[in-house]
Amino acid sequence: MSLVEEITRLESEALERIGQADSLESVGELHVQYLGRKGSLVAILRQLGKLPPEEKKIVGARANQARVRLESEFKTAQARFETDEGGSVFDPTLPGTAQRAGTVHIINQVMGEICQTFYGMGFQISQGPHVETDYFNFESLNFPPDHPARDMQDTFFVEGGRLLRTHTTPVQTRELANSKPPIKILAPGKTFRNEAISTRAHVSFHQVDGFLVDEGVTMADLKGCLVAFCRSFFGEELKLKWRPSYFPFTEPSAEVDISCFLCKGKGCQLCKYSGWLEILGCGMIDPAVLEMAGHDPEKYTGYAFGIGVERVAMLKYKINDIRLFFNNNVRFLRQFF
Ligand code: DAH
Repeated sequence: MSLVEEITRLESEALERIGQADSLESVGELHVQYLGRKGSLVAILRQLGKLPPEEKKIVGARANQARVRLESEFKTAQARFETDEGGSVFDPTLPGTAQRAGTVHIINQVMGEICQTFYGMGFQISQGPHVETDYFNFESLNFPPDHPARDMQDTFFVEGGRLLRTHTTPVQTRELANSKPPIKILAPGKTFRNEAISTRAHVSFHQVDGFLVDEGVTMADLKGCLVAFCRSFFGEELKLKWRPSYFPFTEPSAEVDISCFLCKGKGCQLCKYSGWLEILGCGMIDPAVLEMAGHDPEKYTGYAFGIGVERVAMLKYKINDIRLFFNNNVRFLRQFF
């Protein structure tokens, strides 16, 4: 048998056996046997040296042809088993890799939940500008120019005598200046203060202010409204504690504490073992505020309240650092779907 014939026989034998191979391993073994360094094809090529140059060319070319053909068959056979054994080839029966959808930021979720609760009590949503005038942020709210209460709120001033609103309360006096009672408004939004950033304070945060002005509005209406909100937001069995406080735009003013929803008032880390959590500021709108906005304080009265969104979000979700809301750590944010 000539060497060319021998190569042809070897090639067809190898093809047949590759076709019959029943595992990745046996394909590997056949590869070693036919194309390995000590394999059959190399053994034939070793005899090439003895041939005259003309024949050497022919046999060499045939051997190369066989090698290329077999390599390609080995590849195909390998792919066949990689599919079956769950390797790299696409398997449409496997479950897919899920894409994560984005979610509403936790602060917007909580703000939305607060709004939803008051919306159910008939409040309408209103928003004012972030860059505010001194008049609406302070003066219309009964903070005269040199009043020490201005120091309660460290202010960022911008060019042209304007400032970044330090609370959402100016939306109250904007609305009061433009409409006739009954007025029942909720003002959610961003607020800014020139404060040192810490676990409890940030330069940018969110508030929801609410107010009602009408004939015959009393403190009892304020209490009813806030009791309903706190119970719906934190839990039905809550107790509320009303502490006297001071805001220039309300008289009388109060701060509301709720009984700790975590320990039910027994004392725990969240409430610093007091059983109570500070939740919001509120009061009856000062007659001077109504008068400045052009409403007769003899005829109309009103209540108002202001809620810190980060504060209630931190309590509700037991978050101990306000900065977590704003440093865009996706692993933190993903917890709140
Ligand atoms: N604006 C107040 C603050 O930022 C919060 C506040 C207190 C708002 C009492 C009100 C209110 O509307 O009646 O500290």
